[in-house]
Amino acid sequence: MLSPLRPKIEAIVNSEDVEIKIRLQQICDLLRENISYYDWVGFYFKNGTKEELKLGPYSGEPTDHTIIPFGKGICGQVALSNENFVVPDVKAQDNYIACSINVKAEIVVPLFVNGENIGQIDIDSNTADPFSKDDEEFLEFVNKEVAKIL
Ligand code: SME
Repeated sequence: MLSPLRPKIEAIVNSEDVEIKIRLQQICDLLRENISYYDWVGFYFKNGTKEELKLGPYSGEPTDHTIIPFGKGICGQVALSNENFVVPDVKAQDNYIACSINVKAEIVVPLFVNGENIGQIDIDSNTADPFSKDDEEFLEFVNKEVAKIL
């Protein structure tokens, strides 16, 4: 279900006539519309020289959490750990920032440019424990593609 989306991601990334922000938006929309258990899909990026993340393009309900300090929530922890964070049950997490009461699970995968963690892709799911190794590999692929145009 995930692999047929890879060429579509590549096509979006390679559409050089489209503004980068729009291409990132198209990727968020593609993932949310085609993967049943992806209910919110967004990119966060390091906010200049500040130790915080700023929300970039996203698809899904608007969130209040447009700025997240490093270390806070799942996203803020990934900004420091440089590692994927898969949360099968958000209720079991102490350091978690709730965006919607409907969210049951979350996955955050860091995005590296020239080896530097410059942001991340964040997926919220309203389904319990939906993410597997396939999602991690797929989102790593998405981020590697996106890194080419940042
Ligand atoms: N739940 C995230 C905050 C971002 S929202 O999911 C869009 C976290 O704990 O970092």
